[in-house]
Amino acid sequence: MKKITVNTSAKLSTVSKNLFGHFSEHLGRCIYEGIYVGENSSIPNTKGIRNDVSAALKELEVPVLRWPGGCFADEYHWMDGIGPKETRKKMVNTHWGGVTEDNSFGTHEFFELCEQIGCEPYIAGNLGSGTVQEMSQWVEYMTFGGVSPMADLRRKNGQDKPWKLKYFGIGNENWGCGGNMRPQYYADLYRQYQTYCRNYDGNELYKVACGPNADDYNWTEELLKIVKPWHTKAISLHYYTVPSGDWNHKGDAVDFTDEDYYNTINKALYIDEIITRHLDIMSVYDPKHEIGLIVDEWGNWFDVEKGTNPGFLYQQNTMRDAITAALNLDIFIKHSDRIVMANIAQAVNVLQSVILTEGDKMVKTPTYHIFDMYRRHKEGERVFTSADSDSKEGIPSLSHSATIKDGALSMILTNPLLKEEQEVELDLCGFEFSSVEGEIVSAEDIHAHNTFEQKENVTLKKFSDYSADKGKLKVKLPPCSVIALTVK
Ligand code: AHR
Repeated sequence: MKKITVNTSAKLSTVSKNLFGHFSEHLGRCIYEGIYVGENSSIPNTKGIRNDVSAALKELEVPVLRWPGGCFADEYHWMDGIGPKETRKKMVNTHWGGVTEDNSFGTHEFFELCEQIGCEPYIAGNLGSGTVQEMSQWVEYMTFGGVSPMADLRRKNGQDKPWKLKYFGIGNENWGCGGNMRPQYYADLYRQYQTYCRNYDGNELYKVACGPNADDYNWTEELLKIVKPWHTKAISLHYYTVPSGDWNHKGDAVDFTDEDYYNTINKALYIDEIITRHLDIMSVYDPKHEIGLIVDEWGNWFDVEKGTNPGFLYQQNTMRDAITAALNLDIFIKHSDRIVMANIAQAVNVLQSVILTEGDKMVKTPTYHIFDMYRRHKEGERVFTSADSDSKEGIPSLSHSATIKDGALSMILTNPLLKEEQEVELDLCGFEFSSVEGEIVSAEDIHAHNTFEQKENVTLKKFSDYSADKGKLKVKLPPCSVIALTVK
């Protein structure tokens, strides 16, 4: 039996709700079809936004939503997406499938979406192909309440009051699709562009600089030699889990071997080392830890579903995705003293999506149910734990996270092993409790996934395979399962 000791009096850090954020991009069927169908659609909608999708995201208590990209962001010219729809420019989405982008979803529609979901907007500005003036005017358009050309234009377009906007990214992946820049060049441009992103009417921007790709430690180091805490509140990190490590043959989302599975787990867990090393570098250049780290793109990236547009990046989502989502979230929680936000890519119909749609049908993926389960950790205090460590099949055999909030202890335990049940004893070090409630996401087959016909193959269920004795809890974890316990 494995043992985990939990000391609820040793509080380590507050887990920001923003660690459970999402990302929406003009990519494939994420925005169009997946989120926005237009007011004239036969699919039930409010101001063009699908009712089923916005309700599901609201139910998940999505804290923050990033938009409009991704690579799309550095080709996006925001003025194309405002004003009467019939006069909005039609353009080519060169990054994603070469399809026509009619700009019917723009700034106003995005803020409407955030309002319907009840989340904070996080906008990525265009540094790669846009001008300083264009970025500066976008901020003015969105956040200035007085008289000015941009504020007047916003009013003309039907939005009287300025919106509240906190999170603003200055570029996306500027080491790659956002301009193929060297860190020094980007850092100088960042300093210039951010100067003209003003704080109007008490709206204080939380500016985010483009940080590294995965384990590119040089980028972080060179960036932070030039960009200082008075220029930025945070830097971003992007890391995708590609099971094979080969971007040309990433592997199938549903049809995979046990070996592929364990490779995926290993590749997912690598983010822990990546985060630790970037944070170490950040500590050198920012010893007071004034700059936060935002993992604003993460998730599993597989080959596209057969027969779908390769530029749309549409993939299914199985119990394997549920396990890696839990492992990632445990890692973010472990680093919650420095990680201020994380956004899984992408909310609907793309990579590790929480929702898939087809016509008027919608299904919640296994990853959705993991995010549903992890809601209990939002704004909780991470508490000290110490666990027996051992590994099997080349991976640590157990992952966990523990927080306390309003006197209730939330524990989430993940058994990533495909064939072994595990028994775990939780020593709560004198924490007094009178009730325990359990939930589980698991499946007998790791390939299990939800379809439009069978929506509940993998879902959140009640869990009761635990026993309490003298302040200790014994829990039985089936193979490939994620279990949450609320102890109070
Ligand atoms: O998520 C797909 C793409 O991955 C994003 O557009 C880009 O930022 C990253 O390379």
